[in-house]
Amino acid sequence: MPAKNPTPKHSSAAAIDALLDERRSYQPSNEFREKATIRDESIYAQAITDPEGFWGKVASELDWFVAWNRVLEWKTPDAKWFLGGKLNVSYNCLDRHIRGARRNKAALIWIGEPGDRRTLTYWDLYREVNKFANALKKLGVAKGDRVAIYMPMVPELPIAMLACSRIGAVHSVVFGGFSAEALRDRINDQQAKVLITADGGWRRGQIVPLKHDADEALKGTPSIEHVVVVKRGEFPMHMKEGRDHWWHRLMDGISDHCWPEPMDSEDMLYILYTSGTTGKPKGIVHTTGGYLTGVYATTKWVFDLKEEDVFWCTADIGWVTGHSYVVYGPLANGATVVMYEGSPDWPDKDRFWQICEELAVTIFYTAPTAIRAFMKWGTEWPKKHKLVSLRLLGTVGEPINPEAWVWYHENIGGGNCPVVDTWWQTETGMILISPLPGITGLKPGSATKPLPGIVADVVNEQGESVKVGGGYLVLKRPWPAMLRGIYGDPERYREQYWSRFPGLYFTGDGAKRDADGYLWLLGRVDDVMNVAGHRISTMEVESALVDHPSVAEAAVVGRNHELKGTAISAFVTIKEGKDSGPELAGELKEHVVKKIGKIARPEEILFTADLPKTRSGKIMRRLLRDIAEGKAVGDTTTLADPAVIARLKTKYEEQES
Ligand code: WTA
Repeated sequence: MPAKNPTPKHSSAAAIDALLDERRSYQPSNEFREKATIRDESIYAQAITDPEGFWGKVASELDWFVAWNRVLEWKTPDAKWFLGGKLNVSYNCLDRHIRGARRNKAALIWIGEPGDRRTLTYWDLYREVNKFANALKKLGVAKGDRVAIYMPMVPELPIAMLACSRIGAVHSVVFGGFSAEALRDRINDQQAKVLITADGGWRRGQIVPLKHDADEALKGTPSIEHVVVVKRGEFPMHMKEGRDHWWHRLMDGISDHCWPEPMDSEDMLYILYTSGTTGKPKGIVHTTGGYLTGVYATTKWVFDLKEEDVFWCTADIGWVTGHSYVVYGPLANGATVVMYEGSPDWPDKDRFWQICEELAVTIFYTAPTAIRAFMKWGTEWPKKHKLVSLRLLGTVGEPINPEAWVWYHENIGGGNCPVVDTWWQTETGMILISPLPGITGLKPGSATKPLPGIVADVVNEQGESVKVGGGYLVLKRPWPAMLRGIYGDPERYREQYWSRFPGLYFTGDGAKRDADGYLWLLGRVDDVMNVAGHRISTMEVESALVDHPSVAEAAVVGRNHELKGTAISAFVTIKEGKDSGPELAGELKEHVVKKIGKIARPEEILFTADLPKTRSGKIMRRLLRDIAEGKAVGDTTTLADPAVIARLKTKYEEQES
């Protein structure tokens, strides 16, 4: 049987053809190359010749209380890294910097959306983290306990994470845009003991009422004993006597020294929930030694980090990008990190560029969906500001179309900043496929090649390597920051990542390799959508829809969208006797927001008497996607009732016009 190539769900064939016709390439300038942190290509060969020696050398740049006795134990699919080693993450991010010249270096420069600003030096951050670590202890939090965090982008968020790591508690940050119900499910899944939240945060000039939503969630979370509330503003909310504590009161008069807990390299550092192919999010587990080694090294290599850099990753800390490249990677390197609370278009569309100018940002890392919005807003916004301090740009989260890449390179980077397109996942913990900016020639739209020490491949349906051409992206060797499992569900871990191609980690992404060995990521090939860089599963949205009393059945697909990359289209069958109409459509969208959060709000809802199904009853989402994208509908021969598609198509076109 000839090998079939996968059809990436969210990229149209035309877009892929255009991508593969991309011929532009950019070499690092001599000036950049000469000063680059990594300028010697032999790093790739070293990693291949002796992978364990290679990672061991990288890990030895961190501070260990007890050295490991073995670099790797690999029993597919379970990896252990730096066995027997003991270290503490907050110690590596703070204590080791305050002994030298970094003591009064800015660790965190924070800007609030209304324009307030706070700068914490390494010494300040060290003291705050120690104090909050003691506060957590006072609330009875001990090593191994889970602490849920539901916060706006304020300095107390990284402080809370580092304080957890200091005492060996496991944190689980839930993105502030998730709904009360989503928060409740995540708290219950991990049985968290404490929740840390804030009275609210600012987003586009509006208050995000986090404590209010947290209170809703807390109605069904028996494991929570205490709630800590950061006072961000004068936001109306209620404090429950005995359960709720103001952050500032807990910190008042508490000691600023707390011994860092020596953690085993394989002790859990955090759980972060992400969408999989079922309705239930997966709690991705990351541990201590390997994770820190991975994010430390990749921050240094990929972003060419230097002592004097001002590093700004715009991701919310609620996502893995914020964990690895706002908090742990840069702080382990002793970098100056910029953190911004709000939206890029508030009060105006030049907010990011104003911040870049004001703080003389040198490294800027954002998502393609944001870059497409900047393009749409026009060059007049970046032109208002001097962006001369920038020297390196990065992107992450979804495939970047070459036009957006080139726009970014020219209009933000002034034509002379390398753009690193970095591919990775919540599960991988660290960047795996990316250029090394002092070495790699760049092709717009390609994440280029696996980093040193990473063995990736493109394979066909049978798991055979495709030397040039399209297939599935897999990883062939363990890497230090890889997930150690799904919290409480080892079977799902095996099934999800290791069963499709035995012995290989299946990423869920399609990719194409060109004749130069460059990798072009083509998007998800499973039921996970990437909506404006956020992972959402079709099943999650479907479950939220059928939870509504009027809905009998729902099918959700991701369709191409100019700004978001993918937008959510829902096809809904309602129960007999219920009225369909614009009001119900609006109500259903709100219902999804209530169940999951605003990021999952369907762009459009189409009511239909039937959904296209195979004779065995499987919904054919592929056909629905064709309809949602206004394309010619593909092969319908396996449908139980082909007339369903014709009816749906007419209806969709009517609704659109
Ligand atoms: C996609 C975000 C193309 C991919 C760090 C992956 C990308 C999913 C890129 C993980 C990139 C991430 N090019 N696609 N540079 N980076 N992706 O877990 O589909 O939120 O599987 O992690 O985003 O999303 P997650």
